[in-house]
Amino acid sequence: MTVDVRLAAVTKRFGAVTAVDAVSLDVPQGEVLALLGPSGCGKTTTLRIVAGFEAPDDGTVEIRGRVVNDVPTYRRNLGMVFQQYALFPHMSVFDNVAFGLRMRGVPRGDVPRLVEEAMALVRLTGLSERFPSQLSGGQQQRVALARAIVTKPAVLLLDEPLGALDKKLREQMQVEIRALQRQVGITTIFVTHDQEEALTLADRIAVMEHGRVIQVGTPTEIYERPRSRFVSDFIGVSNILEGKVVSGDAAALVIELPSGSRVSATPVAGPATGDRIEVAVRPEKIRLSDTADGSVNVLAGTLANVVYLGAVTYSYIQTADTRLVVMEQNRAPRPASAPSPIGRTVHACWDVASTLVLSSRP
Ligand SMILES: Nc1ncnc2c1ncn2[C@@H]1O[C@H](COP(=O)(O)OP(=O)(O)OP(=O)(O)O)[C@@H](O)[C@H]1O
Ligand SMILES: [Mg+2]
Repeated sequence: MTVDVRLAAVTKRFGAVTAVDAVSLDVPQGEVLALLGPSGCGKTTTLRIVAGFEAPDDGTVEIRGRVVNDVPTYRRNLGMVFQQYALFPHMSVFDNVAFGLRMRGVPRGDVPRLVEEAMALVRLTGLSERFPSQLSGGQQQRVALARAIVTKPAVLLLDEPLGALDKKLREQMQVEIRALQRQVGITTIFVTHDQEEALTLADRIAVMEHGRVIQVGTPTEIYERPRSRFVSDFIGVSNILEGKVVSGDAAALVIELPSGSRVSATPVAGPATGDRIEVAVRPEKIRLSDTADGSVNVLAGTLANVVYLGAVTYSYIQTADTRLVVMEQNRAPRPASAPSPIGRTVHACWDVASTLVLSSRP
């Protein structure tokens, strides 16, 4: 496996703020890595360090095996698109895309073909003579992408590249960027605070909090196996249950909630009997049933609210310990006027494997 970008214990401080705190990451060739986290967690600063716009206080940055801490941006072989993608307004689309090629001294005769190739990749063939002001927001964004990839850089850096677009267009561009990336196979690091964007685009996601990378994994690993409450809350919705480990053997970890109800989880290394522990259950892993349906995990409660959203319905169940949110697919046709079931007793049921152990304290 060739590593295209390697960050080794990279730290960046701005006065008292540690914007990036000992971040180590390997990005293999061809991978799309998302840096995901809330505002201010250090995503942009990390990307700017890779780009060479910021110098780290500690640690090293390698691109294709070469330490680049002292190499200026224009010699790092990068393509970049930032949220304010700032096309040159007085230049045609063609000249915008050709800019990087000319800067690099690509022979004149090769420029039109390379520009056309890049334009075709972003599906803008035929628009080269227009000016940026004559394009839609999505088209301008594609020009910015074409401009970034036309030089065939080793690494593509994207900082919230779709932030300026409305939701529909953003979703469409996400799918297109993914397809483009698969076609070109270019190693990509992109920054987003949008979990769905990360899940759609990334091969792996690095979740950041307070300048640190707190978990790295495939979208499935991050969603299905979050290691902390922060990650489970940031990606998707979680029901968090707090309790005490009452027994743990090879078969199951049993947790007692404050009410005395018990839930079971797949055993993991770490938690011991008597530890306080947090577990999470995803809303779509819970089934609602009028009676305890024989599942290992069953919490009885009262149906407190129902939100019908067309494709899915969210139900809120007040149990003795917490309010659970449950998401169910609306598979069967529903009568137009279903009787309001609020207030009735229901049972929230889920499998042992769907109880995610987050953290424990002795
Ligand atoms: N040039 C700077 N001078 C001082 N502080 C800075 C500078 N750039 C960033 N910071 C601080 O470093 C921290 C990380 O900022 P950064 O821009 O990397 O966050 P981010 O994760 O990209 O956030 P957002 O999602 O809002 O773009 C923040 O606390 C920010 O205020
Ligand atoms: Mg940012």
